[in-house]
Amino acid sequence: MNKIITFIGAGNMARALISGLIQDESDLEIRIADPNQDQLDEILHNWNSVKAFSDNSAAIAGADVIVLAVKPQIMKLVCEPLQADLKDHQPLIVSIAAGVSIANIKLWLGGQAMPIVRCMPNTPSLVQAGMTGLYANQEVSHAQHDLAESTLRAVGSTLWLSDEDKLDAVTAVSGSGPAYYFLVMEAMQDAAQKLGLTADESRLLVLQTAFGAAKLALESEDDAGTLRQRVTSKGGTTEAALKTLIEGGLPKLFEDALKSAENRSVELKNS
Ligand SMILES: NC(=O)c1ccc[n+]([C@@H]2O[C@H](COP(=O)([O-])OP(=O)(O)OC[C@H]3O[C@@H](n4cnc5c(N)ncnc54)[C@H](OP(=O)(O)O)[C@@H]3O)[C@@H](O)[C@H]2O)c1
Repeated sequence: MNKIITFIGAGNMARALISGLIQDESDLEIRIADPNQDQLDEILHNWNSVKAFSDNSAAIAGADVIVLAVKPQIMKLVCEPLQADLKDHQPLIVSIAAGVSIANIKLWLGGQAMPIVRCMPNTPSLVQAGMTGLYANQEVSHAQHDLAESTLRAVGSTLWLSDEDKLDAVTAVSGSGPAYYFLVMEAMQDAAQKLGLTADESRLLVLQTAFGAAKLALESEDDAGTLRQRVTSKGGTTEAALKTLIEGGLPKLFEDALKSAENRSVELKNS
């Protein structure tokens, strides 16, 4: 019999994960629960093999994996009614909610030992190019570890962490990271227009360059510093631009920005 995966919350992230699993031709039976019928209808319209439920308890009956894909602020409200269902049935719990600790999820689900994986995905998951940091508690078996990984790999790359607290750093780097690159793209497009290029010309030049640089760096065995030095000839145009960026303090700005994001992640987790 195929394993059953139930998503609670039929929003953006659940849709991205379901789309990835279906594209990967996963043999999991996919269920989705959400009180909002419009959200369910949109999913059923796209993927008619998915089973939709308006009741969370009914959706998790017999499930092997439950993916908690609701907003962090309603996680407690969503978990507590499931306590009775999870007394004698202990599926793998996968939470993708930002800043909600394993200790809280466990407490809200009844307090007994249970396998929980906490993940921090990012928005490029919506186009199957995500980056997800994952942490598993001690109750997670090898098979469940693989199941969580294959679910998140359906929307991009994964990185397992040895310590739950590292998810704050992951939040600062890859969770919030797409926005840093968007800011750089925005700034480069504005600067390109000041050089006389049109908005459309600037957009294509900047976005394709960002994509190409990321692809080259991912496919290369060399680190980013080596790649940068290789395209920087003495006295050339790249050197002139990099000198301005480095003397303007860009590396230190990134250090401070990531530290601010990590601090904020810790504050939100503790609030
Ligand atoms: N989007 C990202 O890139 C991203 C990145 C990292 C982490 N995350 C995390 O992923 C989680 C989901 O994010 P999202 O962007 O997919 O949010 P979303 O689009 O708001 O999806 C959440 C869904 O849960 C539904 N819901 C509300 N109450 C519910 C209940 N009691 N039972 C079942 N479902 C319920 C919501 O319905 P209504 O719309 O009717 O309220 C909505 O359809 C969040 O915790 C977020 O922190 C997201």
